[in-house]
Amino acid sequence: MIQFDNVHKAYRVNGRDIPALQATSLQIGAGEIFGLIGHSGAGKSTLLRLINRLEEPSGGRILIDGADATALDADGLRGLRRRIGMIFQHFNLLASKTVADNVALPLRLAGELPAAAIDARVAQLLARVGLGEHAHKYPAQLSGGQKQRVGIARALATEPKILLCDEATSALDPQTTAQVLQLLAEINRELQLTIVLITHEMDVIRRVCDRVAVMDGGAIVEQGAVADVFLHPQHPTTRRFVLEAEHVDEGEQRDDFAHVPGRILRLTFRGEATYAPLLGQVARDTGVDYSILAGRIDRIRDTPYGQLTLALTGGDLDAALARLEAADVHVEVLR
Ligand SMILES: Nc1ncnc2c1ncn2[C@@H]1O[C@H](COP(=O)(O)OP(=O)(O)OP(=O)(O)O)[C@@H](O)[C@H]1O
Ligand SMILES: [Mg+2]
Repeated sequence: MIQFDNVHKAYRVNGRDIPALQATSLQIGAGEIFGLIGHSGAGKSTLLRLINRLEEPSGGRILIDGADATALDADGLRGLRRRIGMIFQHFNLLASKTVADNVALPLRLAGELPAAAIDARVAQLLARVGLGEHAHKYPAQLSGGQKQRVGIARALATEPKILLCDEATSALDPQTTAQVLQLLAEINRELQLTIVLITHEMDVIRRVCDRVAVMDGGAIVEQGAVADVFLHPQHPTTRRFVLEAEHVDEGEQRDDFAHVPGRILRLTFRGEATYAPLLGQVARDTGVDYSILAGRIDRIRDTPYGQLTLALTGGDLDAALARLEAADVHVEVLR
């Protein structure tokens, strides 16, 4: 659905080029929910805004649904923008228009539907996002979560195939965030909508994304299925994000464990292995004792996983490690 071939972008400021996106190649499949994370200034919004050509690429080629989006005339660009909806952190609603009129706006601008058809479509969209009762209110009379639902309804008005979300839940409390994410996941399934979302909340990525890309200094430094990237981060930036999200301070942990005897291991279980009574069996069979120093059992989208930090003492340590690895447990020796 979205393909970048060596796309790069520099902003021209006072005659000087400020690089924002290094040559980047990327593919996002139809119906995928694709997450983008990275520190402030990493180039996330730039990448996102290149997809609907809110930013002009400095070079490279962008294909949307197989068609070259870099070679469009003004008409073609209007068509492209109708096929790509966008929602924003601060909702960007028109304060002087009602909820219904905000949602109708893209349809009126497109000028393709008669007024009665627009009204019917707006009513259907507002019902879909749970705002049927609020059609005649003004944005100031709505909560943050309701405003973002209006934003979503407006973004879906022209039946786009792609929805871009730039920190769309950053201004919302955790419970409202969960409800908006639920809505996004539903419309992704119902409409086969491709969603690209930027967030600084790792929980958002865990809950709804299929794949994630990590950006640093204008480049994608790591990407893959969310469970792979989060459970086995390779790049230092990714490691930092994942550990921060789990409230793990590796330095602090090293100090805490300094007086714990034995070998210290971090085990990562995935899928069925998460629930297997493996540790007890391995301890009995190899004579190794274990104490649990830290741990988390959770799921990433539909994948259950467990991550345990253990201290092992006594017994046949090599045999224990071999048994764990044979059971598809990923073992990292920390000390
Ligand atoms: N319109 C612009 N003109 C000049 N420089 C810009 C412009 N927009 C972004 N930049 C620069 O490009 C780089 C990437 O910015 P971008 O907005 O893509 O980052 P980001 O990852 O979205 O950051 P944040 O998390 O803070 O939103 C930054 O160095 C930024 O200062
Ligand atoms: Mg940004």
